[in-house]
Amino acid sequence: MTRDVAIIGVGMTKFGEFWERGYRSLITEAGSKAIIDAGIDGKDIDAVYVGSMTPGRLIGQEHVGALVADYAGLTGIPATRVEAACASGGLALHQAFLAIKSGLYDIVVVGGVEKMTDVSTEHATVALAGAADQEWEGFHGITFPGLYAMMARRHMIDYGTTEEQISMVAVKNHANGKLNPNAQFQYEVTLEDVLHSSMVADPLRLLHCSPITDGAATVVLASSEKAKKLCERPIWVRGSAIATDTLSLHERKSITRVEASIVAGKKAYEMAGVKPDDIDFAEVHDCFTIAEILAIESLGFCKMGEGGKTTENGETRIGGRIPINTSGGLKAKGHPVGATGIAQAIEATWQLRGQAEKRQVKGAKVGLAQNVGGSGATCTVHIFSPEK
Ligand code: COA
Repeated sequence: MTRDVAIIGVGMTKFGEFWERGYRSLITEAGSKAIIDAGIDGKDIDAVYVGSMTPGRLIGQEHVGALVADYAGLTGIPATRVEAACASGGLALHQAFLAIKSGLYDIVVVGGVEKMTDVSTEHATVALAGAADQEWEGFHGITFPGLYAMMARRHMIDYGTTEEQISMVAVKNHANGKLNPNAQFQYEVTLEDVLHSSMVADPLRLLHCSPITDGAATVVLASSEKAKKLCERPIWVRGSAIATDTLSLHERKSITRVEASIVAGKKAYEMAGVKPDDIDFAEVHDCFTIAEILAIESLGFCKMGEGGKTTENGETRIGGRIPINTSGGLKAKGHPVGATGIAQAIEATWQLRGQAEKRQVKGAKVGLAQNVGGSGATCTVHIFSPEK
């Protein structure tokens, strides 16, 4: 593979609960912002990819590739919807990366979007459960909070991880979210708040969960030739990898080891020519706070079983050894499922351009984004850097 691929523009909506706004208005805002940021116009764009998990079940709308091209005023160009549950955004990014690598396209706009709050929590929970194994899990009534609760309990039993440590992830991510003007929750929570929030699925409480969110995010990718011509500060996609695992949790050898993240991480590190120690910050998929602990272990930022201790020691805070989820993560920034993987790439871009304002990681040179679908059946890992 000879061509390099760079991010040359980014744009996102604020994440939150927007009853007055529709799906198409969200993705059009994010797309327009990214195109303006890239300094290109419609005729420069070769193709569009959009990650969206379940618009059919949430708003009754399918066929969203064409919808997005239509509302962007780009009818005629190839537009593809990509779905891999909560990793739909990360997978869309990977597909757009491959399309440029292949030499077929030079400039690709890749977005992610979800409109989740038009339905009740119960309805959204059932729609999200579509990412689990319907015959072995969904049919028996298990929900995503329930699946991650089992992973959390097992981690506690196997490694002595405590409720306090799982709660400290929420405290940190809310503190980061307070610094992010695009976050759904821009307020801090204390350890006591988390430990006394209402129980959702034992041991996971309300403040261990990501919320239900509306939002959209878009990046513009370009080939090296176009990126050098169009952009003063391209952010290179140095690694882009995807791996899969069993859909159902009970089929795995261990439910505290996110194998797809381990495999995708290794591939992405190899492609980028870096090691976990070279990563200056990471956006990881903390759909429940235990997931952040599993993510930092699977990506090699600490030893297996030590994610809780690493969090407690403050190593994952801004200013710590390996800042995790400077954006506030899914926990505080919000989790409009199809948009999440793209929003992670945007935070990485802002960090690497030095535009992350109060959340800025000093001297950040290499960033990583990890996006998970379901309980870990799909995982994408991307590595970004301003240097090739
Ligand atoms: N964190 C912090 N606050 C939250 C929250 C969360 N995750 N979810 C809701 N809230 C707040 C709301 O802002 C609201 O606050 P307000 O009363 O000050 O306005 C209050 O809690 C009640 O909100 P509501 O929407 O009625 O909550 P709910 O009980 O219906 O839903 C959860 C709470 C945790 C069940 C829901 O957010 C959820 O299902 N989250 C997980 C989503 C998920 O599974 N995603 C896919 C992951 S793989």
